[in-house]
Amino acid sequence: MADKKYVDEVTGTETTGHEWDGIQELDTPMPKWWLYTLYATIVWAFGYVIAYPAFPISSSISESSALGWSSRGLVADQIAEARAEQSVYTDQIAAKAIEEVMADPDLLRFSQAGGAATFRAFCSQCHGGAGSGRPGGYPNLQDDDWLWGGTIEDLHYTISNGIRNELSPDARFSQMPAFGADGILGGEEIAQVVEHVRNISGQEHDAALAAEGATVFAENCAACHGEDGTGSHEQGAPNLTDAIWLFGGEREDIATTVRYSRAGVMPAWAYNGYLSDYEIKMVAIYVHSLGGGL
Ligand code: HEC
Ligand code: HEC
Repeated sequence: MADKKYVDEVTGTETTGHEWDGIQELDTPMPKWWLYTLYATIVWAFGYVIAYPAFPISSSISESSALGWSSRGLVADQIAEARAEQSVYTDQIAAKAIEEVMADPDLLRFSQAGGAATFRAFCSQCHGGAGSGRPGGYPNLQDDDWLWGGTIEDLHYTISNGIRNELSPDARFSQMPAFGADGILGGEEIAQVVEHVRNISGQEHDAALAAEGATVFAENCAACHGEDGTGSHEQGAPNLTDAIWLFGGEREDIATTVRYSRAGVMPAWAYNGYLSDYEIKMVAIYVHSLGGGL
């Protein structure tokens, strides 16, 4: 083969000696700039493996580099730095009563912004991104309609201790009976009280059944929902006279609630330090700013 190599006259480049049907291949050398770039990247790669955690070990890569740098470490440093900057405010929020925090314009502004961030991270899964709630028992926190009360103390308590949460000894608790499943009311009485609820919530209803249902309601439901059905914060019993429904206001929804009852559960954020003291205060202040009040 070697004897087939020769220097091509036109280009002055040696051929490789390969020949196909009289066509020969030039052995053009790599351009110098290209080669040096290649060498430079090889040198760079060695430097990179030493400076950054990139060394393969069985199933992953080395956690930190020979120089002690890791991206996790970087994030931890940045978080610690941000916490230190925020501690100007967060230390004060932790030390003060929530009313005092709200009375201080700077702390109030910081709490609303910080509370909004906490809300997005920990609450939006259930209550929706803007606190507008989700079907199936996750209440809207933007309106003035509160199950357990919407004053800042009420909100702080609810968020700290949770609702029907077995882990937390101070959780808010109440239990609507399962009137159908437990045989407290028969099918006819349930149909009647459903029409009564449709009536007081201003929906289309059967007037004759609803009239009977008013008696069923007074005897079985008024203790928690109030005689007029406007609900009770002590019991966490919803107002049944408005158009706001946790579980739906259609006949079938109301009948299902009365037959089997419902029992929404909310995490207790103070339990086990899920959220720290100042985070709970901030998120309570944020929720209060959405629609708190009575
Ligand atoms: C796992 C779902 C879930 C998460 C996460 C959650 N909640 Fe709730 N929350 C609920 C449910 C369900 C209720 C209604 C309980 C009931 O029926 O009484 C509720 C009720 C509430 C109430 C009482 C509303 C009222 O009308 O009285 C407040 C206030 C509240 N949540 C705030 C928060 C905040 C703030 C966070 C985040 C720190 C949060 N929730 C995270 C499920 C959740
Ligand atoms: C022991 C107190 C208690 C009694 C008695 C009671 N309820 Fe309730 N009721 C509640 C509570 C608490 C809730 C909210 C459950 C939740 O948030 O998960 C509720 C929820 C409801 C809802 C759902 C409202 C919505 O927004 O979706 C309806 C409807 C309802 N009750 C009707 C009745 C009727 C009708 C009776 C009588 C037959 C009755 N309740 C008796 C406590 C009670």
